[in-house]
Amino acid sequence: MLDWSETAAIARKLPPVAAAPAAASEAAGLGTIDRHGGRVSVDEKRMINCRADVNQLLPLKYKWAWEKYLAGCNNHWMPTEVSMQADIALWKSRDGLTEDERRAIKRNLGFFAASESLVANNIVLAIYRHLTNPECRQYLLRQAFEEAVHTHTFQYIVESLGLDEGELFNMYREVPSITDKAAWAIKHTQHLDDPDFKTGTPAADQAFLRDLVAFYVIFEGMWFYTGFAQILSLGRRNKMVGIAEQYQYILRDESIHLNFGIDVINQIKIENPQLWTSAFQDEVRGMIREAAELEAAYGRDTMPRGFLGLNAALCEQYMHFIANRRCAQIGLTPVFAETDNPFPWMSEAMDLKKEKNFFETRVIEYQNGGALAWD
Ligand SMILES: [Fe+2]
Ligand SMILES: [Fe+2]
Repeated sequence: MLDWSETAAIARKLPPVAAAPAAASEAAGLGTIDRHGGRVSVDEKRMINCRADVNQLLPLKYKWAWEKYLAGCNNHWMPTEVSMQADIALWKSRDGLTEDERRAIKRNLGFFAASESLVANNIVLAIYRHLTNPECRQYLLRQAFEEAVHTHTFQYIVESLGLDEGELFNMYREVPSITDKAAWAIKHTQHLDDPDFKTGTPAADQAFLRDLVAFYVIFEGMWFYTGFAQILSLGRRNKMVGIAEQYQYILRDESIHLNFGIDVINQIKIENPQLWTSAFQDEVRGMIREAAELEAAYGRDTMPRGFLGLNAALCEQYMHFIANRRCAQIGLTPVFAETDNPFPWMSEAMDLKKEKNFFETRVIEYQNGGALAWD
């Protein structure tokens, strides 16, 4: 009869398990417990289609996932810790903000308010089930909580400024330029939520990759960034400084979400090179191009005339710059002609230590490290 140490030794000698569809309950970690199964060895762990026990966090294989989990925990913040007094005074003042600025702020808040929930639902209902690695799931659980904090931020802003909650939270249904983006993203996650969907075939595995690109690279990695630029640009002019500070914290969280997604995509590519065909690469580049066009339309809609330091043309240029950067991060050739970053201050906005002096709001540092190096 085998004891546990013998079983573990045998498990270590086994060749890597070939990717094959695991039963849905096994992949979820909720299958019948195998009382005689061996201990998990690092070699058996896989990003998708893993047949090793997903309930055993250790031994770690993907240290980058664990490190991002720890970084997320170190960055903990709550929206209610940020004072909204200056924002309330400015919002209620008659001439502190132009009509164009008010329109851009409201549409920006409306886009994010529902988008945070869309991202959270995608993680919990689609990604989590099919990403068969416990250290990645540990990070997803942290990310899901952060998305809840972000949604809370929009509730807190609506309440503080006395905004029309129905108008804001329904913009993703009622404002076409926002609906177009939400509908584009949802079509990539809808079928993954189907209880009969499972990875394990090239077509299904590519569908999963498409979802990862749509939500991590495009939704969080491209669309959120123009949203951050809009509000942080106002913050730099001392307008809506409370929201701008909250957006800085959200940006810090989102930059880790984005980089986690990129690491996940690249690791799946390493383990399943047959999925990353040239036809599939073309398709992903097409997705990124289409997403940049949707963002340009959103920019024209939210800023028809633009305001100091910000307009639709600059946002489109920024989107092209970001799109090319995202392509490079997942190993694709650029989609757009090379362009300069029109908002070089965005990278400084991620360094909370420096920007804190600019906004002169609160002095608490959540993270010991200060500067961020995720993007
Ligand atoms: Fe978020
Ligand atoms: Fe996120």
